[in-house]
Amino acid sequence: SNKSLLILPGDGIGPEAMTEVRRIVNWMETNRAVKFDVDEDLVGGASIDAHGIPITDEVVEKAQNVDAVLLGAVGGPKWDNLDFSIKPERGLLRLRKDLELYANLRPAICFDALVDASSLKPELVSGLDIMIVRELTGGVYFGEPRGIEDLGNGIRRGINTQVYTTPEIHRVARVAFELAQKRSGRVVSSEKANVMESGVLWREEVIKIHESEFPDVELSHMYADNAAMQLVRAPKQFDVIVTDNLFGDILSDCAAMLTGSLGMLPSASLGDVDAQGRRKALYEPVHGSAPDIAGQNVANPIATILSYAMALRYSFDMPEEADLIEKAVQNVLAGGMRTADIMAEGMAKVSTTTMGDAILRE
Ligand code: NAI
Ligand code: MG
Repeated sequence: SNKSLLILPGDGIGPEAMTEVRRIVNWMETNRAVKFDVDEDLVGGASIDAHGIPITDEVVEKAQNVDAVLLGAVGGPKWDNLDFSIKPERGLLRLRKDLELYANLRPAICFDALVDASSLKPELVSGLDIMIVRELTGGVYFGEPRGIEDLGNGIRRGINTQVYTTPEIHRVARVAFELAQKRSGRVVSSEKANVMESGVLWREEVIKIHESEFPDVELSHMYADNAAMQLVRAPKQFDVIVTDNLFGDILSDCAAMLTGSLGMLPSASLGDVDAQGRRKALYEPVHGSAPDIAGQNVANPIATILSYAMALRYSFDMPEEADLIEKAVQNVLAGGMRTADIMAEGMAKVSTTTMGDAILRE
């Protein structure tokens, strides 16, 4: 049966980058034995302009019934003054929530040609390929009680609660172990079991899942503060890192910058497997809608293209095709072509379209 893909280009540079992806989808259909049912719809500001809300029930319903959703980016100054409940970002938040996308995959891959863009020494990052799995729907960002209390005498206190249940830990751990089986077979689980009860539980439950279901994977544990240090000191020691929402937010941004540019970074958010055997999945670049450069044909489309490659790898079981795209990106960069954001001396500065052309050709 055909593979179904819902494309939500969104706002700003989202549609520009997505145009380049659509060309690669067409290439795949022409050159590989595969057909995609591609549907395209609105999210974010584009949906606000058309329907008054950042995502419609109809689009959420579509997202729930495809193999994968590919999203560009949402937001922009035009919608900045709207009430939070109808802001563009709410469209994305609703998708994550309604699809229950609890595992956020953030790869940090250092392309050889971009080694110099990293803030670390080339020998530390050359060949780097890490996958951070961040728990996305639980923990301190959602835990109750939360709020700001007035204690009187001019004193107030802010409260958040870090909570994890065993099923929440189990499901994200499984995603990490399954990924490790497709990679180098190593998982580092990160928490602060030395000072947090939720960390103690996290470690115990990750060990349980490991022993009962994934004894072939190598598991180790690292306190999150040490993980931050190790990421900068010797990042290549890591393969898959699994961690909670808060630590994952910080560690994944840290890992991202090991690779240099925001315009290069894809991501995936995964949920449960449904009755048809499909895992709910949303793929998107890490960057936003970049309103400062939107509409100028200068945005780097690579993060969005690599997000599509991740969809091929993780939702469509097409690792060879994913490799083809990643290799093409690698080769184009090695050939000296650069969009403005990754520009370096002696390189050829090209437009979004020209970068897309080159990747397609490669
Ligand atoms: P941003 O990621 O859009 O841009 C940050 C800086 O990086 C800008 O100077 C931009 O020009 C540059 N940049 C980002 N992606 C690029 C690319 N592919 N090629 C070349 N340069 C690139 O983050 P910012 O400026 O904080 O937010 C802009 C808007 O995007 C806001 O409305 C924000 O809410 C939204 N946003 C949306 C996200 C999403 O849809 N997932 C994530 C982050 C921000
Ligand atoms: Mg962050």
